[in-house]
Amino acid sequence: MSNKVITIERHIIEEERASQGATGDFSALLRDLMLAVKIIHREVIRAGLVDILGATHRENIQGEVVQKLDEFANDVIFRAMDHGGHLCAMASEENEGLLAIPEEYPKGKYILLFDPLDGSSNIDANVSIGTIFSIHRRVTAEETDGTVEDALQPGYKQIAAGYTIYGPSTMLVYTAGRGVYGFTLDPSVGEFLLSHDNIRIPEHNGIYSVNEGNYMKWSPEMRKYIDWVKQDIPEEQKKSYSLRYIGSMVADIHRTLLYGGVFLYPADVKSKKGKLRLLYEANPMSFIVEQAGGRATDGLGNRLLEIMPTELHQRVPLVVGSPKNVEEVESFLQGKRAV
Ligand code: AHG
Ligand code: MN
Ligand code: MN
Repeated sequence: MSNKVITIERHIIEEERASQGATGDFSALLRDLMLAVKIIHREVIRAGLVDILGATHRENIQGEVVQKLDEFANDVIFRAMDHGGHLCAMASEENEGLLAIPEEYPKGKYILLFDPLDGSSNIDANVSIGTIFSIHRRVTAEETDGTVEDALQPGYKQIAAGYTIYGPSTMLVYTAGRGVYGFTLDPSVGEFLLSHDNIRIPEHNGIYSVNEGNYMKWSPEMRKYIDWVKQDIPEEQKKSYSLRYIGSMVADIHRTLLYGGVFLYPADVKSKKGKLRLLYEANPMSFIVEQAGGRATDGLGNRLLEIMPTELHQRVPLVVGSPKNVEEVESFLQGKRAV
């Protein structure tokens, strides 16, 4: 084991140097984002101490109750990213339309899509939550205001994606298309330090992660898969499948990345397109999981990263995780297998 201390900044700069034609613009963008997530971290760890908990009794455009920390995180990210000259626009889960870069600031060549606070229903219970981000290169003319066209790009075109998880420790997991790296925040120095070099997802593990309360709303095929995991004992393990469901996608997928298994949010009779959002939830997480050797599909064999988005807040069914687990799920959802 190397005892070299590698900060995220050093890692990003070295990665950027290795890629041809890099201008340093991209590492500066990520530096601004690091500041934002550190401020969110500071607020999250104090959440139980200050009068910041509880709903604001306002609903966001998805009809969900917005918690104060969502708004705070949304605001922090916007304000950290609006003036650096790296972005042409932003889009957030918390805002219906595209977020324009204020007139007085230069417009850059990237667009940032983000979920400021993921798993917000867990805030009041002191359970892990996260922030998710996705970065694309703009497709519209340089130096102009970004448009929705810049945001509506398929996930495989992402330049970088990542998430922070605010858990027992705060971690940032990140890919720029050359593997997945995890950094743990050392709060005493305020730096993210490389702790998980080149993360690889296990080929298979007997863990499934899904809100099983939706069982009666699922398709018969989906129900069959769940019935099957309860009966089957994976060869490698000699023990039954375990269910693990936190209800924060970041936390559930983070565990899946490190331990293996599968995370699902399928469509159901109520949510015909699933619940999770393509641009700032499914795409960034899929990019990371694929870069770690996993798979991310809609359960019917379609790679999520290839979906051509048509709306900012588009939803998508999700099957993400170890390649062999995803294959198992698909064999049921495609009707090739019965219990
Ligand atoms: P958000 O807090 O950003 O709205 O996302 C919540 C999401 C996701 O984190 C989680 O996987 C899912 O909602 C949980 O949904 P259920 O409560 O339906 O299980
Ligand atoms: Mn979310
Ligand atoms: Mn959110």
